[in-house]
Amino acid sequence: MEIQLVETKEIDYEKVVDLFFEVGFLRFPKKRNIYKDAIQKAFNNSQYVVAAFLNKELIGFVRVLTDEALFATLWNMIVKPKYQKKGIGKLLIEKCLDKYPNLHFFLIADDDVVDFYKKSGFKIHPHGMYLEKGRKVCILYN
Ligand SMILES: CC(C)(COP(=O)(O)OP(=O)(O)OC[C@H]1O[C@@H](n2cnc3c(N)ncnc32)[C@H](O)[C@@H]1OP(=O)(O)O)[C@@H](O)C(=O)NCCC(=O)NCCS
Repeated sequence: MEIQLVETKEIDYEKVVDLFFEVGFLRFPKKRNIYKDAIQKAFNNSQYVVAAFLNKELIGFVRVLTDEALFATLWNMIVKPKYQKKGIGKLLIEKCLDKYPNLHFFLIADDDVVDFYKKSGFKIHPHGMYLEKGRKVCILYN
């Protein structure tokens, strides 16, 4: 399996949204266009986006938000279910860590992927906090 990792924001965002739906991160098909616009903007406004392709098919991606001096956060790490557990997620993370080797990385992990991130060296912070659903309305969760 010849996986290509490409640093790019020029992705077919319909395909990106398809993968969000496929892993269950998006729930309402009627909101597809709203989701797509928000996701495309989020990716374009990120400092670093890596996409994984197999024979030109988009099969995974992750993006980094960073101040490029101290801190970086990982977001929207997704591998197409059919291709999971083949090392692609780990390659995507490695690419981000290699891009910013001097930065302190953070992420929010869902319960069922905590051990996946641990395999790349991440540790649990006992007091990490977040504001659920944002202050008013977060497009992804409402
Ligand atoms: C989480 C996800 C990105 C992992 O991608 P992946 O390509 O399947 O992961 P890899 O094959 O690179 O796995 C790397 C290592 O983590 C392990 N691993 C993968 N998923 C795991 C999980 N859910 N729980 C525990 N370990 C896991 C693998 O067995 C592998 O271990 P090894 O190095 O000892 O062989 C993928 O399952 C996914 O897209 N899930 C749905 C979306 C999601 O939940 N994203 C994370 C949001 S916080």
